[in-house]
Amino acid sequence: MTAVQLAALRAGGPILRFDAAVADDGGAATMPVIANLFGTRARVAAGLGLAPGDVAAFGEFLAALRSPAPVAGARDALSRWPMLKAALATRPRLVSRAPVQEVGAGPDLSALPVQTPWPGDAGPLVTWPVVVTRPQGSEPPQTAAYNLGVYRAQVIGRDRLILRWLAHRGGAAHARTWARAGQAMPVAIALGADPATLLAAALPLPETLSEVAFSGVLRGARTELTAARTVPLLVPARSEIVIEGWVHPGDMAPEGPFGDHTGYYNAAEPFPVMRVSAVTHRRDPLYLTTVTGRPPDEPSVIAEVFNDLALPVIRTQIPEVRDLWLPPAACSYRIAVVQIAKRYPGQARRVMMALWGMLPQFSYTKLIVTVDDDIDARNWDDIAWAIATRMDPARDLMVIDDTPMDYLDFASPREGLAGKLGVDATTKIGAETARDWGQVMALDPAHEARAAEILARHLPARAA
Ligand SMILES: Cc1cc2nc3c(=O)[nH]c(=O)nc-3n(C[C@H](O)[C@H](O)[C@H](O)COP(=O)(O)O)c2cc1C
Repeated sequence: MTAVQLAALRAGGPILRFDAAVADDGGAATMPVIANLFGTRARVAAGLGLAPGDVAAFGEFLAALRSPAPVAGARDALSRWPMLKAALATRPRLVSRAPVQEVGAGPDLSALPVQTPWPGDAGPLVTWPVVVTRPQGSEPPQTAAYNLGVYRAQVIGRDRLILRWLAHRGGAAHARTWARAGQAMPVAIALGADPATLLAAALPLPETLSEVAFSGVLRGARTELTAARTVPLLVPARSEIVIEGWVHPGDMAPEGPFGDHTGYYNAAEPFPVMRVSAVTHRRDPLYLTTVTGRPPDEPSVIAEVFNDLALPVIRTQIPEVRDLWLPPAACSYRIAVVQIAKRYPGQARRVMMALWGMLPQFSYTKLIVTVDDDIDARNWDDIAWAIATRMDPARDLMVIDDTPMDYLDFASPREGLAGKLGVDATTKIGAETARDWGQVMALDPAHEARAAEILARHLPARAA
């Protein structure tokens, strides 16, 4: 199944439905499996409720939301999306008869066709879970306090899962509040939620913005929630399946190894155990899965769209940034190429330090390459030319020691701490150089136009 999913993704193929998955005991799985849901950028945009060309404009709206005192541009963006702003203030709709509760089953995960994606994986892994939590001290109806995050979940028994929320995630922050109070934490996992909920949970939204409200904005309709059967939480009513349960303080188990988005199996690490109290589902549920591996994978396609959504947010903080590219091949965040409109000496270094220091999403970006605005920051040939002709290794590299790094990076000398490299591949100006800088060659545009005409006449279009 993993091979089919990855081949379909690489071919820009459709959403897949496996009707005859084989269970571990050799029998037929009882539910169809859906995969490659977000296998193309157009489908990710559609999940956000957007045409592919509208992603950047929607990013401006997001930037405006984050800005406490909107600048002129941000106010513009808000006035262009007034209905979205109103939608954010809309409360979710509470329903008593929810499709996801058509069938109520006991605390038994064995009916779910959970995939074991890679040959060296430790066991079955729920790969697209939307994990619903709220902080200790909140009440179930206070959905503004809820966190929805996608954290993979290893199945370790009929009624036990491991929740792998990394320490800086919303789910982990909620878990700390319950652990401090010495109380068990209610958790629900929505499987096969609607695209707006799936993407809202995967987006790194500001802490102050509720994923429940935001998914309503994406969907263009109020989020429908229903009371879980055995835990004090509201859950997405239109999901295919919901798993309910509890995380008890101190209950941990070694998670993994699993193939990860870096292209390597990561080491087993202890993470919290969820004890399942109930599973509910639709009458004919579909089980949604994905595969995480060396890019391109489905999360890297999602990340490409998120890259464009994030650009306006970055520009509100660092206005000279013209473009920014997080190459999917570099695990979507380990390398960044930033294009700037350079005006003064030292500016490339300032921009790189700003990216690392101001914006948490760049904490794990090992290498930033800065280029001028005549360089296409999304084209490796252009980037290579800029490095080859505008960068001196002794002058233009900035190496920083002992900065944060994710534990998934084996190349870091110490877990969690690593270096960063900034490459200033911009044209050197003012005090940055004592030499005359070369002039970029370019043809006369009139000559180019004329050449195109001549070629069109003498080289008739060849069959592709
Ligand atoms: C398919 C998929 C799998 C993911 N797996 C994990 C994971 O195992 N652990 C984790 O901490 N983040 C994982 N993420 C990333 C988080 O879901 C994402 O950063 C999200 O914004 C976190 O939400 P939060 O900021 O509310 O915690 C995954 C994302 C996707 C799309």
